[in-house]
Amino acid sequence: MKTSFPKDKIRVLLLENIHDIGASHLENEGFCVDRIAGSPAPEELDALLHNAHILGIRSKTHLTDELLGKAPRLLAVGCFCIGTDQVDLGAAQMRGVPVFNSPFGNTRSVAELTIAEIVMLSRRTFEKSTAMHRGLWEKSASGAHEVRNRTVGIVGYGHIGSQVSVLAEAMGMRVIYVDIEPKLPLGNAAQVDSLATLLTQDDFVTLHVPSTEQTKNMIGEAQLALMKPTAALLNNARGHVVDLPAVRNAIESGKLSGGAFDVFPAEPRKKGEPFENELQGLANVILTPHVGGSTIEAQETIAQDVAGKLSRFINVGSTTGAVNVPNVELPMQVGSAAAAAPRPHRVLHFHANVPGVLGKINSELAAHNVNVHGQYLRTDAHIGYVVFDVDPSASEAAIESLATIDETIRTRVLW
Ligand SMILES: NC(=O)c1ccc[n+]([C@@H]2O[C@H](COP(=O)([O-])OP(=O)(O)OC[C@H]3O[C@@H](n4cnc5c(N)ncnc54)[C@H](O)[C@@H]3O)[C@@H](O)[C@H]2O)c1
Repeated sequence: MKTSFPKDKIRVLLLENIHDIGASHLENEGFCVDRIAGSPAPEELDALLHNAHILGIRSKTHLTDELLGKAPRLLAVGCFCIGTDQVDLGAAQMRGVPVFNSPFGNTRSVAELTIAEIVMLSRRTFEKSTAMHRGLWEKSASGAHEVRNRTVGIVGYGHIGSQVSVLAEAMGMRVIYVDIEPKLPLGNAAQVDSLATLLTQDDFVTLHVPSTEQTKNMIGEAQLALMKPTAALLNNARGHVVDLPAVRNAIESGKLSGGAFDVFPAEPRKKGEPFENELQGLANVILTPHVGGSTIEAQETIAQDVAGKLSRFINVGSTTGAVNVPNVELPMQVGSAAAAAPRPHRVLHFHANVPGVLGKINSELAAHNVNVHGQYLRTDAHIGYVVFDVDPSASEAAIESLATIDETIRTRVLW
């Protein structure tokens, strides 16, 4: 009888300096890992992809439909970052190739920076530090406050916003937030009914919304006018959320005390490039080069998270966390009866989602006398993914039956 594809024949290609933890995790699984420091040009990638079963990338490698077409053995893609815009997700989906990422790998890092900036703004620390670099000793308590008992307004109470909420409360701050969805308030935080209500009450307004049509310039002249003149604005979300010329005017005219900005409508593409922006030269404004999520810990968390998702998909067929295929997690069979019996073989099957396809799959399995121990199917608008366990003696018959179904995209058997 054939054996399941040996683990040491699974070739993993990791590009773009993915953290060592990701490579070690996959090596420890027994896979054969190749690493390339940068992002190869598409012509070079063509050849590299031909033998890869797993591809790991970060944000620079653009995985187009054409490139995916040159990767006949590719089983899964890991984006060792937060975003997945660099991959043609639809093209990967129609090939039965799940794409995994790490949506909260750097959440804590952004939340910590936000809290640190709130304290620094409250003490006007950067202003004093800049003066010292110029040789001035500006010792004064004027305009410097503790953050305890002050109010922070969080716009967008998602992963990052809710972490900021917890950390801010731990510092003794009062937390209010606004979100387009009702969100469970953590601790003593309170959701308010509108952005306008939030803006009038805060000492700090911190933005943690995604970049959408609705959030574009959501903080402009009208919104800044609602804020207290002593308040500060923080944007560690996306550049287009804030109208920067309006912020400059508000600070220069004394209607806003300062702010911290990590993201900008136009950002240099590479490290070391020049940067120009409306907010340069303003006192009590902290500027950082889109590093909110850039910490060693975030890189480690992301590497561990994505490598774990990839190995679970290879080992047990789990697509939990995949962004482009239905998420399916069929538990492995355990227990006394199962322990005595030979372990079932697991069949993973991606198919085009058309009405009646599950019926066809099950009729074919029945026609080939394949006894199914457990089965879990999920579908989306385009494809279905079904995982089922069969008697070891029946897995070859299962593959044969699935091969007769026109809608089959890809079948894999694990044992
Ligand atoms: N600075 C960095 O390095 C860095 C790192 C990671 C994430 N980010 C950015 O931070 C932002 C938040 O990330 P997240 O992981 O918390 O996202 P998330 O999806 O978990 O949370 C976003 C929240 O905003 C809410 N929201 C959407 N539109 C809204 C609106 N118009 N008004 C009010 N609330 C609205 C959503 O309902 C959700 O609760 C994103 O823009 C992300 O790109 C920046």
